[in-house]
Amino acid sequence: MQLTFQTTSPLQAKADVLVLPVFKTGKTLNAGWLSKLDKALSGALLKAAKKVDFKAGADASFLFQTWEGFAFDRVILWGLGEAEDLCPESLWASATKIARKVSKIKGVKTAAIAWPALPKKASVEAGEAMLETLAKGFGTGVYTFDEYKTEDKGKTGLTKMLFFAEDAGASQAKAKQALARGMGLAEGINMARDLVNHPANTITPEGLANEAKKLGKFSGITVKVETEQAIAKRNMHLYLAVSRASKNRPRLITLTYTPPKGTKLAKKDPIVLIGKGLVFDSGGLCLKPGASMETMKCDMGGSAAVLGLFKALEVLKPARKIIGIIAACENAIGGDAYRPGDVIPSKSGKTVEIINTDAEGRLTLADALSYGLEFKPEFMVDLATLTGACVVGLGDTTVGTFANRDDLRQRVLDAAETAGEDFWPLPLNKKLRPQLKSDFADLKHTGARWGGAITAALFLQEFVDDTPWIHLDIAGPAYSSKNQGHLPKNGTGVGVATLAELVR
Ligand code: BES
Ligand code: MN
Ligand code: ZN
Repeated sequence: MQLTFQTTSPLQAKADVLVLPVFKTGKTLNAGWLSKLDKALSGALLKAAKKVDFKAGADASFLFQTWEGFAFDRVILWGLGEAEDLCPESLWASATKIARKVSKIKGVKTAAIAWPALPKKASVEAGEAMLETLAKGFGTGVYTFDEYKTEDKGKTGLTKMLFFAEDAGASQAKAKQALARGMGLAEGINMARDLVNHPANTITPEGLANEAKKLGKFSGITVKVETEQAIAKRNMHLYLAVSRASKNRPRLITLTYTPPKGTKLAKKDPIVLIGKGLVFDSGGLCLKPGASMETMKCDMGGSAAVLGLFKALEVLKPARKIIGIIAACENAIGGDAYRPGDVIPSKSGKTVEIINTDAEGRLTLADALSYGLEFKPEFMVDLATLTGACVVGLGDTTVGTFANRDDLRQRVLDAAETAGEDFWPLPLNKKLRPQLKSDFADLKHTGARWGGAITAALFLQEFVDDTPWIHLDIAGPAYSSKNQGHLPKNGTGVGVATLAELVR
């Protein structure tokens, strides 16, 4: 996708289609570019829009054919609803829908996207944030995945987007930066989607490590990949136990982002981001039934989000040191598989009695969290497709959020809101902790069925000492059964946008 930023009038846009966003302000539509364009079209545009009762309500759109002599063949009026009803999430979702619509119009290769005159009381920052969301929304909205198709390949026509931001309220330089950030985010999010959509016969632990290594070519990012001997040296025995039965051997991936020299805050303790990296979860000996296993290539969605964030760092360049950790492996079956009843020492020294081999994610994460502590982080964030229970509780579009610090939880919830992602707090309820007591080891790794997302989080908490930490259960929104809001069907890239906002 080629992206350019232009400072001329969008009415001169050389494009197949001009997308013209329109706020609903009382009864009138004609503000900003719309009235200018309507004048150029001798009033035909608004007359036609009126005929079909286009009122710029949220998500309403109206396609109009221009005529000979115009720089663009078509105009789409894109309804944004009332300005005060718009939030980052709804704008992202709306941009996604209009981008999909535009990319499906036959023959459309180049789209020009204008920006409406903002309401008078809107701040400059609001204008910039909206431009960023606009670029993020279009950049992710045109996402498709047809890597493995030999027919119907490359169906999406859109190859070029021209952004015009004259009325954005921001200076041209600032507007350009906002668009670049939005596009950088979109690339990170789309990368995370790709990683999830690739099947487990491509994204093996080694395959995932190879994708991570590609990020090492950006300045400021280094990537280290370790194999079994090194993992054993680190005493990550829980992680190794989960990895044991698969022919695809584990890879421990560590990414380091160092901010540009002289940056304020560069010397502060790093932020550690950990992503669950189960390239496939069969359930192990406690084998999943076929229907539940079908989508388990998505079980590396947490690590995809971490890698997507690192991709976006190329553009965002935050002033903080960031460490990414992925304990990549496959939960398979075989004569060498770990079993219920096994007692295994963790990296932290605590021993764990295995109850259900399908609760493998928390085992790999426990050792990854202990490893994360070695970086003496200011705080740690883990993202994991961890429990079906979280999906039962919150639905499949919401991230469950557990933290051992109230202020960190609030920071992350605020970041999610600004980023337009749906996060909701859940409790680390101490009353459920006795469920993790074992007769044979220091800990059992699962509790009862009820509150399963909470006991999983309580298990993880055992491995973070007193370090500020937040656990994000993304089992629901990491992989979607249909397009919903800005989440596309299949891999969604959930988490990237919030992490980006957080590290910024
Ligand atoms: N990867 C699954 C959780 C999951 C479920 C992710 C649905 C995405 C969609 C995880 O490893 C798992 O199997 N969890 C078990 C835990 C149970 C055995 C305690 C679950 O949630 O059923
Ligand atoms: Mn599992
Ligand atoms: Zn799993």
